[in-house]
Amino acid sequence: MNQELSQAMSDQINKEYYSAFLYLSMANWCSAEGFKGASNWMYAQYQEELAHAQGLYQYMQMRSEPVNFKSIDDPSGSWDNLLDVFKKTLAHEQFVTESINNLASVAMRANDHAAYIFLQWYVTEQVEEEGNANDLIDKLTLAADNTNALLNIDDQLAARVFAAPVIPYLE
Ligand SMILES: [Fe+2]
Ligand SMILES: [Fe+2]
Repeated sequence: MNQELSQAMSDQINKEYYSAFLYLSMANWCSAEGFKGASNWMYAQYQEELAHAQGLYQYMQMRSEPVNFKSIDDPSGSWDNLLDVFKKTLAHEQFVTESINNLASVAMRANDHAAYIFLQWYVTEQVEEEGNANDLIDKLTLAADNTNALLNIDDQLAARVFAAPVIPYLE
């Protein structure tokens, strides 16, 4: 594999683990604030991010490429309210989308069609990730400081059940 592409793939694995860690930290905050449903939603998101990292890792194994693991940044933060949590989630996903797009561009420049095709799964997934965060920002903006409305949204988030994403090469 092209050296620049290999390094960028490694870096993306680290970013997915950071994403997982960030959402676990948010799950913990939501739980402490009494939003058990949002905590459940964030925990499922944490599991999904682990799967994203694992998918990239398995792909690198398939290509016999070394993975350069780095320490994961501290994700802990404090958020003003539930709306703020999802605004930060959207901002983070926009950052990840840019990173995935850059990664796909590196694959294209390296003429690595296999990696480019593999990365399309991640390109498509980012549309869903940003869409989910956007939907929740809209709902939470409408709810504003209405406690009943906030608890109603929290109940909806409690219904999320983690389903392992079907990523190529990830078994
Ligand atoms: Fe991800
Ligand atoms: Fe997703």
